[in-house]
Amino acid sequence: MQRVFSGIQPSGVPTLGNYLGAIRNWVPMQEQHESLFCIVDLHAITQFQEPAQLLLQTREMAAALLACGLSPEKCILFVQSHVPAHAELGWIFNCVARLGWLNRMTQFKDKAGKDREAASAGLYVYPNLMAADILVYKATSVPVGDDQRQHLELANDIAEKFNHDYGVKLFPRIEPHILGVAARVMSLRDGTKKMSKSDPSDQSRINLNDDNDAIALKIRRARTDAEPIPGHMLQLEGRAEARNLVGILAAITNTMPENVLREHEGQGFGSFKEVLTEALVAHLSPIRAEMLRLLEDPGSLDAALRRGAEKAEAIANPILAEVKQAMGFLARR
Ligand code: AMP
Ligand code: TRP
Repeated sequence: MQRVFSGIQPSGVPTLGNYLGAIRNWVPMQEQHESLFCIVDLHAITQFQEPAQLLLQTREMAAALLACGLSPEKCILFVQSHVPAHAELGWIFNCVARLGWLNRMTQFKDKAGKDREAASAGLYVYPNLMAADILVYKATSVPVGDDQRQHLELANDIAEKFNHDYGVKLFPRIEPHILGVAARVMSLRDGTKKMSKSDPSDQSRINLNDDNDAIALKIRRARTDAEPIPGHMLQLEGRAEARNLVGILAAITNTMPENVLREHEGQGFGSFKEVLTEALVAHLSPIRAEMLRLLEDPGSLDAALRRGAEKAEAIANPILAEVKQAMGFLARR
């Protein structure tokens, strides 16, 4: 049986992009596989987080994941820093991964920006910790967006080098489960940028806790162009914002973008946006309501996360012990 692992950073309120591109696809997995879903706070601090915000965002993320349909009875939902084995194996992997490998990571280059010297050392070794997240459970199936593909290749390189250097067959091969490129949701302000929970502009995204008025306003203000809606996807070439809105309506109503075009061909974006708003509100308002309900009782939320961490540790600690033994660490008896 495959073990599933995925992670999401509590670096903001989850967006429509996180929902359509990741969370929604995680929900059916918990029915078929042993699944772990992790709120990766140790990854979030690779870029500075205000302490009060981090605390709030960690609970908001937990509430959002539960409201979207993850169930503590069916999966293991927990916070990364609650399970020290992640950081410990992360350190070990810092000593396995080669500088040359990390130098090739494109996400580091993107996130560090122009002033690379000022980036944290944590941001640089981020992929080693991500490899540890997965391999400390010997998880083999990792559902993520396409932007994480390179990190998973690195994780397999680390696993292979570890197995080779220590002459063991300890770590399995990870199968990336790349979630549809069609599910890639772009910014409402700039159709060439990914919708992101850490974008400085709140108008660029739909947050899962936005109320109906906020959703309506953001969609009304979303950038489009003056052309009417065409009949075929090819005609949306070069119209990134228009294509994004069509893609969102298709995803949220579980249909193909072609069908959306067929239905709205010839219309302007004014009326299209009304239809889109209605569909988003219908889909997201029950999620928001459940999220708010869960956040009213942080004690129960924290307790659910604690139980998740206990279950996660029960899997991770024996694997970490096996790793240390293979490396010749003196056991603490
Ligand atoms: P992050 O927000 O970077 O922590 O990403 C968490 C998960 O959501 C990853 O699997 C991403 O690939 C996915 N994701 C983030 N933003 C988007 C987006 N705009 N469209 C689709 N998927 C996304
Ligand atoms: N790096 C991932 C992202 O930004 C989050 C993440 C951390 C993750 N650890 C993971 C995803 C392990 C999958 C598996 O989206």
